[in-house]
Amino acid sequence: MEHIAAELFQDKLLKWYYEHKRELPWRQTKDPYKIWLSEIILQQTRVQQGLPYWEKFVETFETIIDLANADEQTVLRLWQGLGYYSRARNMHAAAQYVRDELDGKFPTSFIEIKKMKGVGEYTAAAVASFAFGEKVAVVDGNVYRVLARLFGMEEDIASAKDQKVFREKAKSLLPDQNIGDYNQAIMEFGAMHCKPANPICLFCPFSDFCVARKLGKQGSLPFKSKKVKVRERFFHYLVFEYEGKLLLKERKAGDVWQGLFDFPLIEKGEFEEHGKLLDTISSFAGVNTENIAVEDESELFTHILSHQKLQAKFFSFRLNSEKLAEILTKEYYGSFYDMDEIKDLPKPVLILKFLNKGVY
Ligand code: ADE
Repeated sequence: MEHIAAELFQDKLLKWYYEHKRELPWRQTKDPYKIWLSEIILQQTRVQQGLPYWEKFVETFETIIDLANADEQTVLRLWQGLGYYSRARNMHAAAQYVRDELDGKFPTSFIEIKKMKGVGEYTAAAVASFAFGEKVAVVDGNVYRVLARLFGMEEDIASAKDQKVFREKAKSLLPDQNIGDYNQAIMEFGAMHCKPANPICLFCPFSDFCVARKLGKQGSLPFKSKKVKVRERFFHYLVFEYEGKLLLKERKAGDVWQGLFDFPLIEKGEFEEHGKLLDTISSFAGVNTENIAVEDESELFTHILSHQKLQAKFFSFRLNSEKLAEILTKEYYGSFYDMDEIKDLPKPVLILKFLNKGVY
């Protein structure tokens, strides 16, 4: 199936927009202040909920100077109920920036608008295109959805790298004129027609071109990867010393650090005390713990891997009998190494950090 050409897409989209758009008051103005205000209010808020706030703000503060001159309490009081109050504080600071640094004149380009506090890529593109017709593409959640479905884009909208692919695509579809309406239209189409659930494919102006519709992928596009949960692990390293040597073993496949050497390790869902560890050792190795002198417990060492947060404590034990050293060596399948040997062994950084503390 051939992808829809940019010009045809623009024509069909605008035609749909003029027939179906909601009448929203910030669409009736070119005043960048009022448009910016609407975009800040709508950042984490639905249109229904945001509309009365926008009306309150434009009535109370007719210009950005009025907003800048208000005290913060008044601004926050008007904002009350919208949540994410840093939005209100940033908005107020941005108004003062315009008053103090820009001679009271609202910035007129994407680049300059983006310098305002609380204004990111999306908001700057929205204000620059709606108020000044600048040729910049808005890319919000609605736009991701429309593009992903229409063009069968499988890229991950949670990935910064893939977001760039969407931005490029959005840019390539921009018309040369009427950018403001076009940008409103693509967002409105995503919000009202190409909805997350139950898109109205039956009456869609793009149904002949839509890859998702053809492949039945409306439900799986856009693709958004889940944040991988970080697994927290609690390592209790047992550092057995016998006559100046420490017990270590090479790590096997199946977990982190294959091929590196570390100490006997007990992993638990949280940290345990020295005493409890001794019980574990004695029951596991079948040794009498009388000959094990508890020496010290280290500070906490943290090591971050891509999907794991390792927290380790090192528990030092001095062995007072050769027999015990032998049993532990055998049960653990490890060996005692002196410090020179240990220096040459490949070790995880976590182990190195501990050894560098100079306990041994
Ligand atoms: N949400 C964010 N900006 C919007 C706009 N300009 N119109 C409708 N909904 C929006």
